[in-house]
Amino acid sequence: MSRQEVILCHDLKSSLESAIAKCPHDRLFIITDEHTHQLCLPLLQSALLTDDAFEIVIGAEDVNKNIETLTTVWQALCENGATRHSLLINLGGGMVTDLGGFAAATFKRGMSYINIPSTLLAMVDASVGGKTGINFNGLKNEIGAFAPANSVLIDTLFLRSLDHENIVSGYAEMLKHGLISTTKHWAELLSFDMHNIDYNHLRTLVGQSVQVKEDIVEQDPFEHGIRKALNLGHTVGHAFESLALLESRSVLHGYAVAWGVICELYLSHLKVGFPKDKMRQTIQFIKDNYGTFFFDCKQYETLYSFMLHDKKNQSGIINFTLLEDIGKISINQTADKETIFEMFDFYRECMGC
Ligand code: GLY
Repeated sequence: MSRQEVILCHDLKSSLESAIAKCPHDRLFIITDEHTHQLCLPLLQSALLTDDAFEIVIGAEDVNKNIETLTTVWQALCENGATRHSLLINLGGGMVTDLGGFAAATFKRGMSYINIPSTLLAMVDASVGGKTGINFNGLKNEIGAFAPANSVLIDTLFLRSLDHENIVSGYAEMLKHGLISTTKHWAELLSFDMHNIDYNHLRTLVGQSVQVKEDIVEQDPFEHGIRKALNLGHTVGHAFESLALLESRSVLHGYAVAWGVICELYLSHLKVGFPKDKMRQTIQFIKDNYGTFFFDCKQYETLYSFMLHDKKNQSGIINFTLLEDIGKISINQTADKETIFEMFDFYRECMGC
């Protein structure tokens, strides 16, 4: 997989002009959602004017990350003269960058694309690393492809108008990057005041966080080994998201990941000796900022069955990424049912539910 250019922009408009100039193209297309069409596109209009870009607006929520929306994008590309030499720009959160990236990867066997993430989650995770896709058959990201963007342009100015819940949600992926990198980065993340956000400091942390992900993706772009480090917190997190979906409770992805981290740090402590003090400090930060996902012992079987069906598993064995310590990653770990139920007990005890 070719290496993608990731830029932490000082001047998004001029970064976009140079990124476009690096991709010779016949026509320019831009995908926005209802929010970025209104709030972000006007800031970039002059960079896109020379090319007379054709805009495709799609629905903003994860429920729209489906084959129907993808078909409308393919249709718009077809009807407006796109070729494999056209260029697509995805301006939005993870839904737009995942679906738009997949549209670009598949249209006429692949066209160039540029991601401009507008949410914290998309900046530090979704838009970087070449994973693209859509939800299918009730399963998240079930259909997709590895296809890196030509450029990812990150402008943290967008974060100033992002709501608190979406900042907190994206921050969970940053916390994960702290846990899999260095004690210094982890400690800095834990000392960040989420209730009184210093946006300049956040910009620096975003840059460091993206670097952690880029370093890992560069070593293992197709997730055969060390890229699994990025799945920390996600085996349990995805089960929490699926339970929430089943019970019509709305839970943002990053919140589920943060609660999943609590569980998987417990397993890390139990199975590979992750230090108790660092586990406790991380749990306290999550309790303070993410609240609690409530469930009781009657829901353990359902959570367990969601985990059994996780697409990261092989031969029906639940796959976990655990940590021996901060930055000491232990991939391809598993746990039996009894231990997993004990982990749920631990979570509920910690979170008072
Ligand atoms: N979101 C995890 C990854 O990109 O591998």
